[in-house]
Amino acid sequence: MRNSIIASACLLSFIVLFNQCKSSLESQGSTQTTGTANKKGLKDYYRNYFSIGVAVTPRLRGEEAALVLQHFNSLTAENAMKMGPIHPQENRYFWNDADSIVDFAQRHGLKMRGHTLTWHTQTPGWLFKDSASNTNVSKEVLLKRLKDHITTVVNRYKGKVYAWDVVNEVIADDSATYFRKSPWYQITGEDFVAKAFEYAHEADPKAILFYNDYNTENPVKREKIYRMLKKMLDAKVPVHGVGLQGHWSVNNPTREELENSIKMFASLGLQVQITELDVSVYGGRQGGQIIQGQAQREAAVFTPEMEQKQLEKYKMIFEVFRKYKKEITGVTFWNISDRYSWLDGRGRKNFPLLFDQTLKPKKAYWEVVNF
Ligand code: G3I
Repeated sequence: MRNSIIASACLLSFIVLFNQCKSSLESQGSTQTTGTANKKGLKDYYRNYFSIGVAVTPRLRGEEAALVLQHFNSLTAENAMKMGPIHPQENRYFWNDADSIVDFAQRHGLKMRGHTLTWHTQTPGWLFKDSASNTNVSKEVLLKRLKDHITTVVNRYKGKVYAWDVVNEVIADDSATYFRKSPWYQITGEDFVAKAFEYAHEADPKAILFYNDYNTENPVKREKIYRMLKKMLDAKVPVHGVGLQGHWSVNNPTREELENSIKMFASLGLQVQITELDVSVYGGRQGGQIIQGQAQREAAVFTPEMEQKQLEKYKMIFEVFRKYKKEITGVTFWNISDRYSWLDGRGRKNFPLLFDQTLKPKKAYWEVVNF
């Protein structure tokens, strides 16, 4: 009897000691980054305008984590929440990477944008195929798979993800084509778009639901996106916002094109967010896969000419964003700094963001915050 009392006393003191150690480690962790988070950053300059977000990978730690906490108050998972990475097999989800980003956001009081529930890229191999015949599944089967995916993912992050890119990039770039001829479209026609929004709204009625696309300042593409959104809104489909991805460059868009897009989509009663902002130092339209201009073979250098053009573009872009603060509810950068950008590769290094490869603010940063 006496021994069992001693044993339970020892166990109790061990539990108390363990919890004290655990909470002090956690507080050190938050202290380590909190100190940096107290320095004024982008999110503070824009506190009275819109949230400032950034796309991140799961391995967010050290100086990059500190930079994120100083400058941003919203996160997007660059890849971890896409269908392929999070739902690799029909009966298996992989939550670790997405969970780690959501947990970081929760721990530090950051908002979380979900990206993206329905897209033609990074889809898992099983999605469109019947496993037995290896032929395309029927429309009914594909819509059921889409509903199961959206319901499962949105439910998991309910209350933690405030906004979802429900559908991404379904409008074709070429002027003669309306919808991109993806397997989604080939199997379901246009129906998958509205259904995706209905499934997401059913799973989380409080989430803000976005249609997300690039080259939204191209007048021809913009009109097609507008037509699709208006048709859904007229049919009472729960669409709440439009994401202008903002993969721009030193020579696009013009101020006029940008203002026209914001005004046009806001006229539908939709929130506008810039969801994937970067300003490539090379010319041409950076619309996801559309990279124009010559690939630079020589060692990439961020020249003074590039810097000047880039700071002028960022200055203009944020002048427009501030002008439309009533229509714009968020601006998210795609990647943290020039240390890594999705635009790197294709034979050249890019320098599209506000922080250089040593994580220091570039001249463009000061054009964005000095207003
Ligand atoms: O995770 C695998 C890894 O296991 C494998 O070894 C490696 C080599 O094949 O590939 C890794 O996956 C890559 C993934 O990024 C994670 O790094 C994919 O191949 C690669 O295609 C993928 O690229 C992403 C791209 O979307 C996919 O189209 C970019 O990081 C991401 O920045 C980019 O982001 C998109 C937005 O989601 C939508 N808007 C356009 C934007 C730019 O394309």
